[in-house]
Amino acid sequence: MALQLGDVAPDFTAESTEGTIHFYDYLGDSWGVLFSHPKDFTPVCTTELGEVARLKGEFDKRNTKVLGLSVDPLQSHNDWVGDIKDATGSALNYPLIADPDHTVSDLYGMIHPNANDTLTVRSVFVVGPDKKVKLTITYPASTGRNFQEILRVIDSLQLTSGYSVSTPVNWTAGEDVIISPAISDDDARERFPKGFRTVKSYLRFTPQPNR
Ligand code: BEZ
Repeated sequence: MALQLGDVAPDFTAESTEGTIHFYDYLGDSWGVLFSHPKDFTPVCTTELGEVARLKGEFDKRNTKVLGLSVDPLQSHNDWVGDIKDATGSALNYPLIADPDHTVSDLYGMIHPNANDTLTVRSVFVVGPDKKVKLTITYPASTGRNFQEILRVIDSLQLTSGYSVSTPVNWTAGEDVIISPAISDDDARERFPKGFRTVKSYLRFTPQPNR
């Protein structure tokens, strides 16, 4: 069965553009983003890998390590990285895993045979410091991902893991958040000293508590 939210992200050892990766050791206590792309030397993938390199500082600020992956061999990855820099202006600054024997792709269900029986789809797995899967997203080969959205979800995941809040539609960091309906108004007054506004008894907004 496909990996689901709350499942333990499988550990693995694999070769990458930054040497041998032992996944759990590599993550340490950080958050992680493991994302697959279908194929080296392809246009959409080139733009995605460059964009993640451009955003690396944003992932660092969130204590999050990123790793890319495809079923291409390491030599292909190494031959391609120069193109990513040329085409996007951003040099690869995170490991790109080579998975020619599909070890990691199979562990994470990144090959969807009814879409393509040999290439990985555009999977994203966000893994928490507890090594559990916090987010899965799957895009088809023809659609490049929005990595600002991945950062936005990480902001939400990191906030909501520390406070009894959730984040509303289209929320971005700094905007008001929703107090858990399980918390009484009296409790909410203590926990959220900046105050809250009640739209419905089950929908109460408060300023982001950690800002
Ligand atoms: C691309 O990155 O452009 C791509 C890769 C595989 C299939 C289709 C598109």
